Amino acid sequence: MSRVTTATLLEMKERGEKITLLTAYDYPSARLLDEAGIDILLVGDSLGNVVLGYENTLPVTMEESLHHTKAVARGAKRAMVVGDMPFLSYQTTVADAVLNAGRYLKEAGAHCVKLEGGREHAEVVRALVEAGIPVMGHLGLTPQSVHVFGGHRVQGRTEEAAQRLIEDALILEEAGISSLVLECIPAELGKEVTARLRIPTLSCGAGPYCDGQVMVLHDMLGVTGKKVPKFVKQYANLHDIIMDALATFKKEVAEGVFPGPEHCY
Ligand code: KIV
Ligand code: NA
Repeated sequence: MSRVTTATLLEMKERGEKITLLTAYDYPSARLLDEAGIDILLVGDSLGNVVLGYENTLPVTMEESLHHTKAVARGAKRAMVVGDMPFLSYQTTVADAVLNAGRYLKEAGAHCVKLEGGREHAEVVRALVEAGIPVMGHLGLTPQSVHVFGGHRVQGRTEEAAQRLIEDALILEEAGISSLVLECIPAELGKEVTARLRIPTLSCGAGPYCDGQVMVLHDMLGVTGKKVPKFVKQYANLHDIIMDALATFKKEVAEGVFPGPEHCY
């Protein structure tokens, strides 16, 4: 079983074979996703809100992200592991971006990094690729800019915004990204970007025409019991399964049913 690489993803696009990407933040989930044949494991900075309990992705640090990326890399034998560049780890200078991105490959065992934004980061993307660091782009709703957007809204709805997003995608491809996440944009725009790019597009609420599909693991497994975005399909309701198990445990302890003789030495 060989490792999924940027070349594999390109070949999959050319063959019309759909790519799957889910987030992972720890060793056991990385093992599960890898066993299921998920192609890309993204240690998203959604780590902040999903796993660390922050309000949004902004507080996530390099150290936190690296810590979790190391655990995921230890569990992924086949999948490509992507480290998500935290807020302020690449927006300051090109040198900062190269040093921070390089840590994912050098220290954490990741194979690629992801960063949010368009043409304003073309120079950084070029420098990373020249340094030997594959880059995944991310356009549309980019959560690190939540305070600029003033909330989580569908992006690229006007003709002007759509045109700008297409241009950004082309500029990023030219700069050297090897894949592109499109988050929360109309399906028709996702279709157009996918047709215009040589590299694969990965839809996170960008419709069915993209080359692959992305979701946050805890959202698609229904772990939290909280409301999920419209583009998420819940494939399981782990919240209820876990609550049942916990309630049964509590009851059985109270009633003296657990531990039974088979659990005792
Ligand atoms: O941090 C994250 O989980 C992401 C994906 C939703 C693309 O960036
Ligand atoms: Na992210």
